[in-house]
Amino acid sequence: MRIKQLLLIVAMTSATFAMAQNNDVDQRVEDLLSQMTLEEKIGQMNQLSGGYQYTEMIKAGQVGSVLNIVDPVEINAIQRAAVEQSRLGIPLLVSRDVIHGFRTIFPIPIGLAATFDPALVEQGARVAAIEATASGVRWTFSPMLDVARDPRWGRVAEGSGEDPYLDVQMGVAMVKGYQGDNYADPTSMAACIKHFVGYGAAEGGRDYNTTMISERALRNTYFPAFKACVDAGALTLMTSFNDVDGIPSTGNNWLLRDILREEWGFDGMVVTDWNSSGEMIAHGFAEDLKDATKISINAGVDMDMMSWGYIQHVKALVEEGKISMDTIDNAVRNILKLKFRLGLFENPYVDESLARKVAYAPEHLAAAKQTAIESAILLQNNNSTLPLTKGSTILVTGPMADAPYDQLGTWAFDGEEQYTVTPLKALGAHFNVINAPTLTYSRDKSTASFKAAQKAAKKADAIVVFVGEEAILSGEAHSLSDINLQGAQSELIAAMKATGKPVVVVVIAGRPLTIERDMQNCDAMLYSFHPGTMGGEALADLIAGVAVPSGKTPMTFLRDAGQAPFYYNHPMTGRPNNGTETLLYDIPLKAGQTSLGCTSYYLDTGYGPHLPFGYGLSYTTFEYSNVKIDKAVYGAEDTIVIEYDLTNSGKYDATEVAQIYVRDLVGSVVRPVKELKGFERITLKAGETKHCRYELNVSELAYWNRDMEYVVEPGKFQLWVAGDSASGTALDFEVR
Ligand code: GLC
Repeated sequence: MRIKQLLLIVAMTSATFAMAQNNDVDQRVEDLLSQMTLEEKIGQMNQLSGGYQYTEMIKAGQVGSVLNIVDPVEINAIQRAAVEQSRLGIPLLVSRDVIHGFRTIFPIPIGLAATFDPALVEQGARVAAIEATASGVRWTFSPMLDVARDPRWGRVAEGSGEDPYLDVQMGVAMVKGYQGDNYADPTSMAACIKHFVGYGAAEGGRDYNTTMISERALRNTYFPAFKACVDAGALTLMTSFNDVDGIPSTGNNWLLRDILREEWGFDGMVVTDWNSSGEMIAHGFAEDLKDATKISINAGVDMDMMSWGYIQHVKALVEEGKISMDTIDNAVRNILKLKFRLGLFENPYVDESLARKVAYAPEHLAAAKQTAIESAILLQNNNSTLPLTKGSTILVTGPMADAPYDQLGTWAFDGEEQYTVTPLKALGAHFNVINAPTLTYSRDKSTASFKAAQKAAKKADAIVVFVGEEAILSGEAHSLSDINLQGAQSELIAAMKATGKPVVVVVIAGRPLTIERDMQNCDAMLYSFHPGTMGGEALADLIAGVAVPSGKTPMTFLRDAGQAPFYYNHPMTGRPNNGTETLLYDIPLKAGQTSLGCTSYYLDTGYGPHLPFGYGLSYTTFEYSNVKIDKAVYGAEDTIVIEYDLTNSGKYDATEVAQIYVRDLVGSVVRPVKELKGFERITLKAGETKHCRYELNVSELAYWNRDMEYVVEPGKFQLWVAGDSASGTALDFEVR
């Protein structure tokens, strides 16, 4: 039999099998739903944070899901209460924020994005699922898909940065990693794509703040990763705290029904964020909790996280005819379907000895280390200061050199600092280390110990200063108006520079900080978004040249917080900066009103950011040459064949993230000056040249246009292939 026929039969069989499985689940859902009382249906819609304390409510069928318990003994105990002591024995959904690892902590998500390595990120999510499900957690509130363009916002730490395309790649990778291929496998953990929608556009970068996002901006920037993850089979979605143009997402039926269900065909389950239903009262969008509950359920929210509104008010709302039984039944169907899909009815319990067996498995730690290596970004390397010579004497100082708790970063509840390998612990494997403790935490303002460190530096060949942010300075509700290094960290770097020794600065932080001034006071700078459990070994290997940096900036690095929001893929203004602007201290006295250049820039910081999106150096150098595309004119159905030669022109084997950018020169609405449309990691030996080929479908240039149609508009385009968003030479082409 021909291979093709065989493959077709296999494909049809598996599709048929999946369909049969779905029909089986649907049938089981209907059978169970038909036996349920209204109170039991409402109980399934209620999610509470805790375990033992809700045992009696669980037995009474008043709880459908719990979060924030991770002890397998407690999880089994309350699961037995649900399965063996409630009337219908419906198992609980046990959930947790497993955001970048469970016990083995990986780099924070913005660090995962910096790897530009979806396959590695998927592997990390799989490790997280194996460790978390071993404790009994079968649902995580991850990935966070919020595009963010303001580093003052503390939650940039949890997302994939400013670019919708990178957001898609990272979100889909995590969904696949968490859920695996078989949802009923005990290691499958339901993903939860969040926060739908627009949370990262909080005004002023102030968490929870209002957003004003047009439908076109939603569709072109904030929706793509959610849609891609729905298509990739994400099993759940979480609504966001914020309002979009005056309507809180938790009460927005255009979002939750018209877009999510009707247009995208999402068949998973929708949960609120923590009390985001009740918070519509504070928003001034609901009179009271009963009103908020009515709004949420009618908007399409299936499960209520911790407002207690559903369990308290739904019965009365149904009896008053303000919520229909159909609406209740559809919400409960989504919840029961998830429980059947995860196999919870067949396997509700967990082996209580498993969790400790799988935690920190060598292969988990190895994956975390590799991810931390690939997430580190080399921002500066004057005179090839890095890598330092193995066996040389280095002075190590700074508040992040030996910070096992803070190195794990935000949203790392179940990471255990005693397993963290810090840089100070790891550097001894490669160097003779002089440890000179100075600042003891990132906000420390005491400079008293600087002189001793300067004295100690006399014996060292080089100095490595570890600065950055304690974990608490990013994450939820941790926005900053000043994103310079806090405390006396900049002074520490300057004091080390004053010794005249080569100074390497390693920043370990939760966001892109404004570190331009600090870069002027050091020879080399390595940037590591809280790298997790194995961050120390990863950084030590990079500093010693055992590994070579390949990370790229997933967000633009600003010169000053006052430039926020700033992102590479911005629309062009009618008066773009043209480099002729007069800066603050060059302005003559009594300057005339229009004498400084009437274009878009800041008098003090000029126009551009400190470092562009997609930027990152290596210990080697990469040259792009012979970049070409196969045609000058393409049709809407064509494929653009991009070819280029990439040469590793330095002396280290290394990996480059080659990026493909496109610009639509004229649209029915103003268009971004550049958009990432593809990237690939290419590993080359020193001196090696590789002929590379990348195919980009013209259909991938589509966007939501003036008439709110998703189309590729004919016209002139430009394309770049480069190592960051600010480099490369434009190639012109046309779509007809
Ligand atoms: C938090 C966060 C959300 C998280 C949830 C449960 O407030 O906004 O991301 O998943 O509550 O912890």
